[in-house]
Amino acid sequence: MKLAIGCDHIGIELKPTIVEFLESLGHTVQDFGTMSATRVDYPDYAQAVSEAVVSGSCDLGILICGTGVGISIAANKVKGIRAVVCSEPYSAKLSREHNNTNILAFGSRVIGAELAKMITEEWLNAEFEGGRHQKRVELMSQMENQ
Ligand code: RB5
Repeated sequence: MKLAIGCDHIGIELKPTIVEFLESLGHTVQDFGTMSATRVDYPDYAQAVSEAVVSGSCDLGILICGTGVGISIAANKVKGIRAVVCSEPYSAKLSREHNNTNILAFGSRVIGAELAKMITEEWLNAEFEGGRHQKRVELMSQMENQ
């Protein structure tokens, strides 16, 4: 897959490890920044990654900030994005299977690199199940148009 990744100045501690991990799994990664520890605003990176996903230029996105909270809230403001912030793999897997999430977020101040990799792999390996979940995802999409 082609994956979009982005982070703020706090998430930058973890991002290189995740990029390397994704590439080791055979994915192509497009890095939307930030590229340094200079203070930035996480919504800008959430928007860049989200637009890459909704436009189809990237298949899925990964966002990292201090907690994963702000950057996932910002991503969910973009129409068509279903972003989840996860600190454990079970929710990450189910978020794909049931909620068809297209962005995974986590916090570099919350989880370590190994757990982040495990969460990422579970999320990438899971597939949307459709069925009874399809209608619920459609209902959420309708909310975006109201
Ligand atoms: C930056 O100080 C911090 O607010 C950010 O990384 C993130 O944790 C926001 O939710």
